[in-house]
Parts: sequence; structure tokens; C-alpha cells
Amino acid sequence: MMRKIIIGNWKMHGHLKSIDKLLSTVRQALFSLDVDAIVCPTFVHLNFVYNKLKHSKLMALGAQDVSAHKEGAYTGEVAADMLKEMGCDYVIIGHSERRQYHHETNEIIGAKVQRALEAKLIPILCIGETKAERDNGKTKKVLETQLTQALQEVNKLLGKNSRLMVAYEPVWAIGAAVSATEEQISEAHAFIRKTLIKILPKQGPNLPILYGGSVKAKNAQSILAVPEVAGALVGGASIVAADFIKICEAAEKVL
Ligand code: PGA
Repeated sequence: MMRKIIIGNWKMHGHLKSIDKLLSTVRQALFSLDVDAIVCPTFVHLNFVYNKLKHSKLMALGAQDVSAHKEGAYTGEVAADMLKEMGCDYVIIGHSERRQYHHETNEIIGAKVQRALEAKLIPILCIGETKAERDNGKTKKVLETQLTQALQEVNKLLGKNSRLMVAYEPVWAIGAAVSATEEQISEAHAFIRKTLIKILPKQGPNLPILYGGSVKAKNAQSILAVPEVAGALVGGASIVAADFIKICEAAEKVL
């Protein structure tokens, strides 16, 4: 079985002192764990984290967003090749907080995925339905649209080695009291796999599909044990060293 991928999405949290402590503690624990860990700090902390990590292969670095443009007069934006230059290997794209608060459309998200692949970054494409969409029986339609529109142009950019991941993050489960149930996760992941194979017949069968949405120390093991769950995208629990470590331990236990 493949090692599980555990991604910490730090969102807009952390300052140098707390990040320093968090990384030192987590790194120590990861020495003895069989897991692929990735941390995604804010843009301004990338360099600091890179310097902390560069001598170890224990954690990889990712950004939380990327510009849809290659370069130019786009104040406040960060281009994909700049992220690569700063030591990033991964980038989260289309997180529901970007879709919701920054009005990112599937078209913009698709352009970001392309920019990331061109710069040899591995996109972590986030998709997921809102509560209303689930209640109205629209989950599959929403997931299909998000995937199709974000990935329709990437066929040529994806290498043989499937340099892309999908994170299923139901919006209603993010930062919530409960995560999706194992049954809901299993059903959504199976549908995502089917859709990926339709869009990308060559790479679709192998792209890792992660789950995100209130993954905590106490539910990580049962979520990660769901077949088809290649790993977890963790928000809140990723900035608490003890919790993130427990999630990484759970990832090893299910191997
Ligand atoms: P959460 O966030 O773990 O705090 O629910 C997950 C995410 O937003 O990626």
C-alpha cells in the first residue's frame, strides 16, 4: 500500500516563533514515521519554512494559492515559477475559502492548475459541495463540474507520473464539529475516481484523492482507512503539533 499523504494547510495562521516551534516538534516525530508530509504556510512564511526544512526530506513545502497569470501587472499576486523558485513542490488550488471569499470560478481555478503544472508544481486541486448542494442532491453534479472545468486543459501538461492530486473537501465539513462520514467519503471518492478517469483516461486511475474537512487526531485513522483515501488535507489540526503528529501516526497505522 502507498504511504499516505498528510498535508497541513496552515491558512492565515502562525508567526515566526510559533512556526519555528511547530516545525521542530513535528520534524522530530516524523523521523520515525512512514508518511509523506507536506506543509503549506502563508506566502510570507515560505522562505522561513524552506530554510527550516531544506536539510531534511521529512516534509515538503507547498503554497496555499497561486496566480492564474504567468507574470505581469497583478498587484498582490504570486506566480507559479516564483513559488517553485522559493522551494515549493506543491500548491493548493481552488480551496473553498478562495472560491467563497475571493470569488474564484472553476475557470480561474483551471488556469491556476495550468500555471502550476507549467512551473512543475504539483497542484492539490480542492473540490467539494456546499451543504445546500448536498441537501438538494447536487453533490455529484457539482464535483463533476468542478473537476471537468478545472482539468479540461491539463491533458497535455500532465506527465506520465501523474503530477496532480485532488482533495475532496465538502464545504460543510471544513472547520466544522464533524467530518463527513466514512460512507459519504467513500461514495464521493469513488465518483471522483470515475470522473477523473473520464477526463484523463491515462492519468485518472492513479491520481491521489485526499479527504479534507475536520480531520482530527481522533477521526484520522478511520478516515484514512477508507479505501481510495490517499491522504488528508488538514486545516485546524495541522497547526497544533501534537494533533498533526497524531494524524501522521494514524497514517502509518493504516498502512
Ligand atoms: P479543517 O480545514 O481541517 O480545519 O476542517 C481543512 C481545510 O480547509 O483544508
